[in-house]
Amino acid sequence: MSDALWQIELDAAPDTLALFEAALEPFCVSLSSHELTESLWRLQAVCIEPPGRAAAAVAVAIAAAAAGVAAPEVRIGRLETRDWVREGLLSLPVISVAGFYVRGSHLPPPRTPETIDLLVDAGLAFGTGHHPTTWGCLYAIDRITRQRRFTNALDMGCGSGVLALALAAKELRPVTAADNDPIAVRTTRDNARINGLSPLIRTLVAGSFDHRGLRGRGPYDLIVANILAKPLCGLAPGLVSSLTADGVVVLSGLLARSEREVLAAYRAQGLRLAWRIARQGWHTLVLRRSSPLRRTGAESP
Ligand SMILES: C[S@@+](CC[C@H](N)C(=O)[O-])C[C@H]1O[C@@H](n2cnc3c(N)ncnc32)[C@H](O)[C@@H]1O
Repeated sequence: MSDALWQIELDAAPDTLALFEAALEPFCVSLSSHELTESLWRLQAVCIEPPGRAAAAVAVAIAAAAAGVAAPEVRIGRLETRDWVREGLLSLPVISVAGFYVRGSHLPPPRTPETIDLLVDAGLAFGTGHHPTTWGCLYAIDRITRQRRFTNALDMGCGSGVLALALAAKELRPVTAADNDPIAVRTTRDNARINGLSPLIRTLVAGSFDHRGLRGRGPYDLIVANILAKPLCGLAPGLVSSLTADGVVVLSGLLARSEREVLAAYRAQGLRLAWRIARQGWHTLVLRRSSPLRRTGAESP
């Protein structure tokens, strides 16, 4: 097998993306889409085998016909050599996604010094990094932290703490990690110590935003919550009221079929979808406020 990865890319209206994603899913190992303009989104599918140009074009044309739109241009190319993707996709049990290298303590460290090495022994908690939802969150964290700095992030539903560790290691700022399961919180604390990140990770047992300690540490400029669809919907009002005016939310743990329900709950609180990552039927959503809120004295800088 060669070392290259391939990418299929197309631009389409946001309400047609689900059809194009379904069309490209058989060709690829991950899909992500992001906004170019309000009416035009870019869909990128990463493939480990060279995709057949004709077959991909036919699949896209069929999806376009189903959507009642003209078929978009399908661009296929080799992806820039990104060892992180290749390693992450091909070599379990290490998870290498974006700049993060997540491994159990029995595995050797990465050979690339610029990679952020995270030792994560999940124990009884969820979050070795292998699940597509954790993968999607790590991918999203890498992308959004390239765009701006975050000073007060929250990992809600921290499990093993893998996302809090990634955020703390990347931003070198304090991160709050909360879970309603005390075992998860203890595991996160252990993993923070093992990775030398204890000074940056503040843990607490909390199952909702009514929790005084959780509210007291807010508002947060980045909230990552990899929980299931139903609890995510229930958390929506509290979560959004704990978000700064320019805050960003990453939601995961939802299957494709639940996206509409989760989005509706967060749209009702004034957020909009900025982009999505689809992997093995699981969606990770990045949301921002639909219209900027006026800053109040309570907002963090
Ligand atoms: C899918 S795991 C995610 C773990 C880790 N963040 C990751 O991305 O791999 C979901 C975690 O959310 C926790 N959880 C579920 N409902 C919750 C709630 N209402 N509040 C806080 N944590 C919750 C579970 O205990 C579990 O540890």
